[in-house]
Amino acid sequence: MSKRSTFGNIFGTIAVVGGSVVGLGNIWRFPYVAGENGGAAFILVYICMSLFISIPIMLTEMSIGRAGQSNAMGSFRRLSKTRAWQGVGLLGVITAFIIMSFYSVIAGWSIKFFAESVSDGFAGKSPNEIESAFTAFISSGWKPISLALLFIVMSGAIIMGGVTKGIEKANKILMPIMAIILVGMVIKSTTLSGWSEGTKFLLNPDFSKITWSVALQALGQSFFSMSLGMGAMIIYGSYIKKKSNMFKIAGMVAISDVTIAVLSGLAIFPAVFTFGIEPASGPQLVFITLPNVFAQMSGGYILSIVFFVLLFFAAITSSVSLIEVMVSFVHEEFRIKRVQATLIIMIALALISSACVMSQMPGSTIRVIGLDLIDFNDKLTSVFLMPVGALFSMLFGGWVLSRKSLFNELSSNGLFKHDTLIKITYFLVKYIIPAVILLLFITETIKFFIPAT
Ligand code: PHE
Repeated sequence: MSKRSTFGNIFGTIAVVGGSVVGLGNIWRFPYVAGENGGAAFILVYICMSLFISIPIMLTEMSIGRAGQSNAMGSFRRLSKTRAWQGVGLLGVITAFIIMSFYSVIAGWSIKFFAESVSDGFAGKSPNEIESAFTAFISSGWKPISLALLFIVMSGAIIMGGVTKGIEKANKILMPIMAIILVGMVIKSTTLSGWSEGTKFLLNPDFSKITWSVALQALGQSFFSMSLGMGAMIIYGSYIKKKSNMFKIAGMVAISDVTIAVLSGLAIFPAVFTFGIEPASGPQLVFITLPNVFAQMSGGYILSIVFFVLLFFAAITSSVSLIEVMVSFVHEEFRIKRVQATLIIMIALALISSACVMSQMPGSTIRVIGLDLIDFNDKLTSVFLMPVGALFSMLFGGWVLSRKSLFNELSSNGLFKHDTLIKITYFLVKYIIPAVILLLFITETIKFFIPAT
């Protein structure tokens, strides 16, 4: 059997795992969710959740992959005597497929908005015109479908390049460019008159705004943003070198994730306040609100191009990890060559993404409980599938996998002495995190199926 590929040095590993984690979740989802949930108070809770819940989950999922040395499903099978546990891995593969169904559509929008920016398409348009252009675009069918397909093909091409030459190389180049673009945008933002109001909104917490629902939203956002509960960290864990320090990787990646999310907020909200736009504009924030902002501000032309490039880069490094969950599964479980496996997955994704776009067309009958497929799949994964996946992975890590195996992975076979950190992680994974997820899961599921009237 050929030797399993591994990521290179620690910088390469952090770039790849960071590439998965930093995505549309940080730049598109985080600012609007923070906007809707009171800004700074939300961010504070979000940081606590990332620290005490998401980092231990990430460490455990990476450990399952590195100990199992296989795809999400194979890793569970190899590490337990009961075959039923491989179902958790399979659930991850299915979740990755459903997330990609809408992720590719929204990433496709970023291509369209990039092109629009280059041709100076937002200039001189009124807010109404910008909004109706957006609606006309998403309901046109063939345009968003072809862009989603283009995005799937580009992601697939990276995957076909393999783990080191494709995935790692692309991430090493794209991640630093992204960080530079974002810092540049924040610097530009400091020159706006809404800078102080924007930063106050994001950094000055009003503790009375911390409610149960804010906490739940923060946890859900953290799962999505840290790519948890669906096998991405398991498959990437399986490519991490045995000598690499897991705490360093998870710590650096979590810091990057939170920093990029907050920086995106700092790049966006001062502009939102400068031009008197509602911070709680919802999912449209990036695609309707921001073009308005760009149309009105000096330097908006260049900035809008740069912003949509950033959004596209962030999306593609994440989608690669989502697709790798599926490709490694087909490749290893069915012994199909990597290139063929990628082609099969690309065709399946093309079909489901097209269905997602079609469900947004006027008069479409593709609807589930009153939602179009993009909304439904987004909710289904973040509210239901990811928490369930994370819960079972924690039960596996805390109760099924031997304490010794988990400790061996976390210390890289005794190479790194993190005794206290390892014990705290173990305690959180075994008791606290399952309890918190269960609570989140029960309340969110009730809310999902019985919407408040
Ligand atoms: N974390 C990615 C983001 O923030 C999304 C993602 C979820 C990627 C799950 C992989 C797995 O956009």
